Amino acid sequence: QVFKLEDYRPSDYLIPETNLDFRLSPQATVVTAILTVERREGISKSAPLVLDGDGLTLKRVEIDGKTVRPADLLASPDQLTLLKPPAARRFQLRIETELAPASNEALMGLYRSNNVYCTQCEAEGFRRITYFLDRPDILSVYTVRIEASRDEAPLLLSNGNPVENGDLADGWHYASWHDPFPKPSYLFALVAGNLGQVADSFVTMSGRKVELGIYVEPGKDALAGYAMDALKRSMQWDEEAFGREYDLDVFNIVAVSDFNMGAMENKGLNIFNDKYVLADQETATDADFANIEAIIAHEYFHNWTGNRITCRDWFQLCLKEGLTVFRDHEFSADQRSRAVKRIAEVRTLRAHQFPEDQGPLAHPVRPRRYREINNFYTATVYEKGSEVVRMIRTILGAEVFRAGMDLYFERHDGEAATIEDFIKVFEEASGRDLSQFALWYHQAGTPNLTVSSTHNPAAQEFTLEIEQSVPPTPSESRKRLMHIPLAFGLIGAGGKPVEYDRVEGASVEGGVIHIRKRRHMVRFSGVAERPAVSLNRGFSAPVTLSVEQKAADQFFLARHDSDAFSRWQAFNTLLTDALIAAFRQILGGKQPDFAPRLTDLAGVIASDETLEPAYRALALALPGDADIARDIGKNIDPDAVHTARHALALAIGTANGEAFSGLYDSLADKNAFSPDAASAGRRALRNILLDYLSLLPGGAALAAGHFQSATNMTDRAAALAVLAHRHHGSSEAKKALAAFEKTYASDPLVMDKWFQIQASVPGPQAVDTVRSLTAHPGFSMGNPNRVRSLIGTFSSANQTGFHRPDGEGYRFLAQTVLEVEKRNPQVAARLATALRSWRSLEPGRQAKAREALVSIANTENLSADLRDIVERTLA
Ligand code: ARG
Ligand code: ZN
Repeated sequence: QVFKLEDYRPSDYLIPETNLDFRLSPQATVVTAILTVERREGISKSAPLVLDGDGLTLKRVEIDGKTVRPADLLASPDQLTLLKPPAARRFQLRIETELAPASNEALMGLYRSNNVYCTQCEAEGFRRITYFLDRPDILSVYTVRIEASRDEAPLLLSNGNPVENGDLADGWHYASWHDPFPKPSYLFALVAGNLGQVADSFVTMSGRKVELGIYVEPGKDALAGYAMDALKRSMQWDEEAFGREYDLDVFNIVAVSDFNMGAMENKGLNIFNDKYVLADQETATDADFANIEAIIAHEYFHNWTGNRITCRDWFQLCLKEGLTVFRDHEFSADQRSRAVKRIAEVRTLRAHQFPEDQGPLAHPVRPRRYREINNFYTATVYEKGSEVVRMIRTILGAEVFRAGMDLYFERHDGEAATIEDFIKVFEEASGRDLSQFALWYHQAGTPNLTVSSTHNPAAQEFTLEIEQSVPPTPSESRKRLMHIPLAFGLIGAGGKPVEYDRVEGASVEGGVIHIRKRRHMVRFSGVAERPAVSLNRGFSAPVTLSVEQKAADQFFLARHDSDAFSRWQAFNTLLTDALIAAFRQILGGKQPDFAPRLTDLAGVIASDETLEPAYRALALALPGDADIARDIGKNIDPDAVHTARHALALAIGTANGEAFSGLYDSLADKNAFSPDAASAGRRALRNILLDYLSLLPGGAALAAGHFQSATNMTDRAAALAVLAHRHHGSSEAKKALAAFEKTYASDPLVMDKWFQIQASVPGPQAVDTVRSLTAHPGFSMGNPNRVRSLIGTFSSANQTGFHRPDGEGYRFLAQTVLEVEKRNPQVAARLATALRSWRSLEPGRQAKAREALVSIANTENLSADLRDIVERTLA
């Protein structure tokens, strides 16, 4: 079934009130829903009421206290239709269903994770609990009563504020919760089980005290401290940056170990993948700490962007997700280093969103059709969606943007809104027409800008010739011209900005060229010397650039661009160009060589004390195999790509051995561990230096020493990765892997790192390693974190291993996807996206990848999730 944006219409009935009663038991939970149903004004009395279900067992149905006659009812596991609803506009519908949470392996609806009852209802999981109008424009006030055995579930949580609790007969007890804010069903949540609590409180800007609770497995309380701190900082930041205050008396977070995604913003009761809550220096890396901070913030920020203002339908998903990602990006930028954060965001966008946008799964930020909505929780909706919001701020300026946001909150609070509503508040706040800009929501594909420049010294004119194009994407062959805000700088000798008198050919405001036409000749007058041009500063638009620029200018910008992002970009472009040239040399049977001024520049940047260590670490991190492949674009031979990358790493290490070694020693941490950004940056720099030094004589011993003397997981995992990847099969690598396994065998989240590191060891042996690790006692096909760490890492972060020329990697993936699918279609569909760029491979691998996709497509009874991904990938 295909769902289309243009088919939206309001439902005939509303559900202003929802009362839910749960009697919890692993195999036979009884759910009694008492719904106040209201026929919408103007709808005929004979309009049937059609409720969504998904695999439900119906026990009974009553209307206003009377059992409904079977003839007036159409009931199946997936739908409940009242053929003759009462004549009264308002009536009470009582529905009893029975569920088996312990057998629910799809992890949607009500399920059990480590014996804890929990729920995941976004997008369409609520219909696996009871029959309902399970769509986000049905806002209802929920009251929930939970009954359970006190032994099994001493803790009973739901949305909103606690109302009462008490004892029942036979060792059972109950608790009831009321959420005064009308909400869509996807924000419903329930948690019941035996969990430890970390408690704190926060006083909001108007002086209300909010009780904060983070619930984790008993004994893990000490691991929730960082998450709690991040939560309080998030609450503070949303008040300061957006004027948004929290609205309930309590805010609870629960960490569970079986979870399909990162986390979920259920009203007043966020549920998290425990990977994004639990952390201390012994078990979590600096990247884990940063992710926890960002995701805690993201889910908290949803309280306003998602919950108070929700989405009219699932086509509007980016209304809450893109905006909330933008907000969490800004939060992290304020808490950490803005420049470093921006570089990291762009790397992520290019690694995940660009290939999506440039392949068979491309879709607009606001899609117009879907078969399975779960497959649209994508990098395009989230990350490109955030970039679109950022562009609105760039175009309007921070102040007008804030005025637009204020208007959005004021006008749409309590509503289920659309992207059109969102754009309109900014048009009104600014008085501008954003209709061309809105194409960013409607049109898929990564725009490209071709730029060349000329300088006429006699006329003192500098001209940029800029041309935009948007490549065709599935079902959108003709593209319209977009409004692209291109931040730029003209840079003269010594890195000083170049002044100009006038500019013609495009509107230029505050350092931004507004590209609106296919071609612009942007002429700057009064420019005596030829400047170097810095383009797309701060990554002002999510586009690719084809710039005709002299290498000398590129080297100059890599040292002197005052925009930190663009300075990083200039060096990264130099590295990429060198890697692509090396790739071609290798294909031509030659030894790759690299310009000494490039490898020397790596040394200069590494030891430039005016730059933050975290920035230097990002600069020294070579584009990954997949990044290089993406920039090459077609006819990819992943082995040649990998060889090129290894050769450049070796050249940089060799050219700078002594300097890197001195710097490495000087960065050794003498202070007590702190997860703050500056300390993390020093560790990042030291660990990337270790990676280079490990390629030089004595490298394995150095990494082994680093591993043994590590006092935190960041250093330990980094050293283990260096040993496993750079010294695969060495005694040092084997010893370190064994020691790590022994120490952390009983900590699944740490064992995920062990799986990940081995899954990403390059080379043809990887598929066998991964296959045998699926039999490891710490591995489980039923747990999404395990599956992603081992199978996900292998198929998306191991180019040489996965793309083994004989196709064994693809066959293994296909087989594993089908195995995972039996339990969890959502996770299986996500895994299958690893094959989305199959058309950019060289012909031999392309054929093998296609065979694997076809073998999945030919399997009988595929889930909607997997069928959708595989068919679009092959189309
Ligand atoms: N709304 C959640 C977040 O981004 C994501 C939940 C997606 N879940 C799903 N099953 N599709 O914070
Ligand atoms: Zn979100």
